[in-house]
Amino acid sequence: MYVCICHGISEKRLTQAVQDGAHSFEQLQARTGVATCCGACESCARQVLDETLDSQARAPQAA
Ligand code: FES
Repeated sequence: MYVCICHGISEKRLTQAVQDGAHSFEQLQARTGVATCCGACESCARQVLDETLDSQARAPQAA
């Protein structure tokens, strides 16, 4: 599913960017460009960020 239409950014790409170390909305913007055009996707992008950080916090630490 596309989150950001302006830049063609999918939910999967945002999730991957968070998993790769983008742990704030600003970092996510810097890595992907999400919400840097019209801004309509910001709340959805923040939701993906929060959910991904949440699931990382719950996941067992990798050895
Ligand atoms: S839809 Fe993401 S900046 Fe416009």
